Amino acid sequence: EIYAALPGVLLPWYEKNARDLPWRHTKEPYRVWVSEIMLQQTRVEAVIGYYERFMEAFPTVQALAEADEARVLKLWEGLGYYSRARNLQKTAKLLTETQNGAFPDTAEALEKLPGIGAYTAGAVASICFEQPAAAVDGNVLRIIMRMTADGRPIDLPQVKKEIGEALCKVYPKGHCGAFTQALMELGACVCTPKSPKCEVCPTQSFCRAYTAGNVTKYPVKRPK
Ligand code: ADE
Repeated sequence: EIYAALPGVLLPWYEKNARDLPWRHTKEPYRVWVSEIMLQQTRVEAVIGYYERFMEAFPTVQALAEADEARVLKLWEGLGYYSRARNLQKTAKLLTETQNGAFPDTAEALEKLPGIGAYTAGAVASICFEQPAAAVDGNVLRIIMRMTADGRPIDLPQVKKEIGEALCKVYPKGHCGAFTQALMELGACVCTPKSPKCEVCPTQSFCRAYTAGNVTKYPVKRPK
């Protein structure tokens, strides 16, 4: 099973190669949650400044709950997709009012909160609570479709579901957060859409697309 080989190569690789990003200094669910929401449609380099200003302005979930919406939106200006900011505050209010500001600690419960989908729920559950919960975004899909030389179109919902389930089974106990972030880091820095850096990839020896010499053939998009 090709998935089973991932933790053993990815964890040491990540330890050595992880970028020093502000949200990687914490396991506080509030901070990780805000970072993952910002990162959903926005590149890392663009997010850093926004993240730091947002945390300075609203250091806790309570602070965000009590803030003026106009001030929240002002700090979001330029990031786009403003429903993300509105949902952040909605969830902050909900958690402050009903859970004393505490976050649920499973992906299943996190997914019930406004603005939190399967990806964000998996990211927070694994990074903050060491749960074996996968966070499958476009980067992770690309890595897996290449590694398994899977030629199915990636927009088939069952593909994402299947990959999420297969990944959850190989999550390494006690290193779930690192494993999630290692996959993201590999997708962002090595297994990139164009010109992937296969020569430095820790999965090279078992990547089926690399072995076949057709890495950029994947992921396959459905013909329109
Ligand atoms: N993209 C999405 N989540 C990320 C994270 N935690 N670190 C870097 N890039 C990401």
